[in-house]
Amino acid sequence: MLIILTLLLINIFISEFIRINYIDEKKIYLFSQANIIVDRIVAYNNSEIDQLLKWYSNEINSRIMVVNEEGLVINDAYDTLKNTKLENREVLEGLKGKIIAREYRLKEYGRTLYVTVPIILNNEVNGVVFISSSLEKVYSNVNKMTKNYFMLAVLCIIISGLVSFVFAHVIANPIEKLTEGIKKMYQGDLSQKVEVIGNDELTNLAQAFNMMSTKLFQVDQQRKEFVGNVSHELRTPLSSMKLLSQSLLYEENASIETHREFLRDIASEVDRLDKIIESLLALVDMDQEKLELNYEITYVNYLLEKLIQSLKPIAEQKRIHIKFICTEKIQINLDRIKIQQALTNIIHNAIKYTPEGGNVEIVLYLENNMVIVQIKDNGIGIPEESLPYIFERFYRVDKARARSTGGTGLGLAISKQIIELHQGEIEVISQEHKGTTFYIRLPKDMSAYS
Ligand SMILES: Nc1ncnc2c1ncn2[C@@H]1O[C@H](COP(=O)(O)OP(=O)(O)OP(=O)(O)O)[C@@H](O)[C@H]1O
Ligand SMILES: [Mg+2]
Repeated sequence: MLIILTLLLINIFISEFIRINYIDEKKIYLFSQANIIVDRIVAYNNSEIDQLLKWYSNEINSRIMVVNEEGLVINDAYDTLKNTKLENREVLEGLKGKIIAREYRLKEYGRTLYVTVPIILNNEVNGVVFISSSLEKVYSNVNKMTKNYFMLAVLCIIISGLVSFVFAHVIANPIEKLTEGIKKMYQGDLSQKVEVIGNDELTNLAQAFNMMSTKLFQVDQQRKEFVGNVSHELRTPLSSMKLLSQSLLYEENASIETHREFLRDIASEVDRLDKIIESLLALVDMDQEKLELNYEITYVNYLLEKLIQSLKPIAEQKRIHIKFICTEKIQINLDRIKIQQALTNIIHNAIKYTPEGGNVEIVLYLENNMVIVQIKDNGIGIPEESLPYIFERFYRVDKARARSTGGTGLGLAISKQIIELHQGEIEVISQEHKGTTFYIRLPKDMSAYS
């Protein structure tokens, strides 16, 4: 519509401009011709003037008349109006010494231009040269041009219509697909992908959409898995508690000893539930980044010494020897309680997953401005296929054994989160039946992140 309106306005403007220009030019031309005639007739006699008028009339394709001061036609190129009195405005005004040109629409001859130029001799108006010229040709030329221009405009509209139709299709199609994808996602189907072709803004949008849907899908998958795992983990202690209590209820002659033993078991299952819930809450807190780290300048060597001291009784029960190697004092900024929790779990794991009489070695050193804690054991090791999963929530290599060791499978997930919150990283190298080594790297200049 905008294009049509613009073309229409341009059409009107151009044809009007050309028409006015044409007529102005014609006026100027007729004035100059009339002036030439005025100059020449002064020196000619009547019959010579007749001839001159006829010749000029032919030349400029107009009727030329000479009118005297009373308004009588003295010479007429067409001869028919000789000796008649002309009383039109142009002649009357011309006789007053004015130069006039005016356009008329005559019934008989169509559009006509009247031009009068006074004949002045010795400062007196002696008569006028009156020219009447048809403008029909000018108008038909302008009309022809307007028509041509109109055809051109129609062609332009058709072409631009086609082009915009194709463009609209090209643009609307991917947008429709995106909208469809978004609607389906809204309805809960998070596996939506849209086709990505080309390299324009819409393609970028489609790519961003695909990235978002992939992420949402993964998050949703993880959420489902997590909820599944949590329910399973919570149900296990609950079912053993139910089993224990039911046995007590139906065992009529159970001794007080048996009661005690079963209740002790129930209490330990409650502890286990409590531990799972506590760990879960810690993870959720860290997930939501609610956790503000409480940075304190800390000697890592002293922190490790204290921590090893507190774990020694457990190690001694299994006759496991813990060795701590540290050649220098290392002081960094960290959240003491959190890092302690992370390191405790990893050292505890080393003790837990090392058979009696084994060795656990902890080395603390600096490398490339990173503080490194290496925790090495010669225990059962981790099978290669399990290595990628050990930092996942609830993952345990040996589920049956885990029940006896009391693990929840959340320890390493929590440790990893804590270390990453400190902008650090954790890595594991392990060989089954030979042993496992964990590397914890923390940036020395922690203040830069705090
Ligand atoms: N040093 C290690 N040697 C052998 N296996 C290990 C070692 N550390 C961890 N693992 C394996 O990785 C699993 C995950 O460890 P994680 O600390 O997350 O859980 P957990 O020790 O079973 O339970 P939790 O720490 O919550 O009490 C363990 O169940 C164990 O199979
Ligand atoms: Mg553990």
